[in-house]
Amino acid sequence: MTDEYQPQEIATVQRLRAELDANGKKLVFTNGCFDLLHAGHVRYLNEARALGDALVIGLNSDSSVRALKGAGRPLNGQNDRAEVLSALRCVDAVVVFDGERATALIEAIRPHIYAKGGDYTVDSLNPEERAALQEAASDIRILPLVPGRSTTGTINKMAGEKAGPRLRIAVLGSGEGSNLRAIIAAVENGTLDAEIAAVISDRRDSNFLKLGEESGLPVHFVDPGSNPRKLGEAAQKEIFDHLRRARADVIVLAGFMRILKEPVISAYGDRIVNVHPSLLPKHKGANAPQLALEAGDAETGCTVHLVTAEIDAGRVLAQAKVPVLPGDTSETLHARIKIEEHKLLPQVLREWQERGLPVRGAGES
Ligand code: GAR
Repeated sequence: MTDEYQPQEIATVQRLRAELDANGKKLVFTNGCFDLLHAGHVRYLNEARALGDALVIGLNSDSSVRALKGAGRPLNGQNDRAEVLSALRCVDAVVVFDGERATALIEAIRPHIYAKGGDYTVDSLNPEERAALQEAASDIRILPLVPGRSTTGTINKMAGEKAGPRLRIAVLGSGEGSNLRAIIAAVENGTLDAEIAAVISDRRDSNFLKLGEESGLPVHFVDPGSNPRKLGEAAQKEIFDHLRRARADVIVLAGFMRILKEPVISAYGDRIVNVHPSLLPKHKGANAPQLALEAGDAETGCTVHLVTAEIDAGRVLAQAKVPVLPGDTSETLHARIKIEEHKLLPQVLREWQERGLPVRGAGES
C-alpha cells in the first residue's frame, strides 16, 4: 500500500458500486483515521453498514493523519489500520487516501450514501466534500457518536496513568444527564484532566444513569427511600460509601434533585459543586427557569456554586447570563440555559483543578 490513491482499489470499489446499482442496492461510504480502533468505531461502522448493502472506508494515509492530528499521530501505520478495518465483518473495502479531504475519492466512488460521525452536521461538513457529495447525489447521513469512546480519550487515559493520578470526579444526577455528557466530552477531548470515578443517581430509569453506563463509567443507583422528595439516611450513607470507595476528590451535582446531608457534607466540605439554572441568589430550588419567567426577568442564567447544608446558598464560583426571549416557555429557556451550563461547569472544574484544589478525597490519608 502506498501513500497515493490506489487505482486498483478504486477500480474494484467502482465495480462493486456498479454491481450494487444494477441490483437496486446501495453503497455506503465513510472516511476517517481509525488510528486506535475502539468499540465506538465498531458500533459506528456497523450502523453505517446498516444504512445500505456494502460499506467502503476511505482511510486517511499516514501523512494525512499527521497533517490533521499532529506529529505524534498516527499511532498505527496505514497498512496496519487498513488490515484491522478490513477484518471487520461490516467492512467490504478500505481505500487509503492522501490529503486532508476525501473529495477526490468521493468523486471517484460516487457513493449512494455518505455516513459521518455525529460531531458534524450536514452544514459543518467541509464545503468541498459536501459539493462532491451533492454532485454525486449521495444521501448524507450523520450518525450519533458513541459517548465515552474516543481515540483521544484512550490516549489521554494512558498518558494520565503514566503521569500519576488525575482529579477524580464523582457526578450525581437525577435527570437527562446533559451536564454529565458535557463533563465526559471535556475529559474525552482533553480539556479537563480528570477521571470520572463514579456516576451516582437516585433514579434507576434516568437518562443520566443510562449515559454513565453507555460511557463505560462506574455507575451506582442509590435507592432514595420512601419519601419522594427527601433522601433517606441509609441513602445518604450509601452515597458516602460510594464516594469513598471511588476515592473522589470532587463531587459534582449535575441535576441532582435531592438534598445531600451528613455524612457527605462534612466529609467533603468545600469540594462539592452544584450547577443551578438561575443567577443565584435569585430563584433557588426546583423549576428555576419557570420562576424567572413568572418574575418577568429580562435575563436569567446559570450558576456553579459550592454546596453547603443550606440549599443553593454556598459560595458562587461562576455565572453565565442568558436573556429571556419573547415567547419563551420554561422548556425553551431551560434549554438555552443548559447550553451555558455545559460550558460553565467543565470550565469551573478545569480552573479549580489548575489552582490545585481540591486534591484529596475523604478516607485518604
Ligand atoms: C440542569 O439545568 C441543572 O442546572 C438543574 O437540573 C438540570 C439538569 O439537567 N439543577 C437544578 O435545578 C438543581 N436545583 P441535566 O440532567 O440535563 O444535566
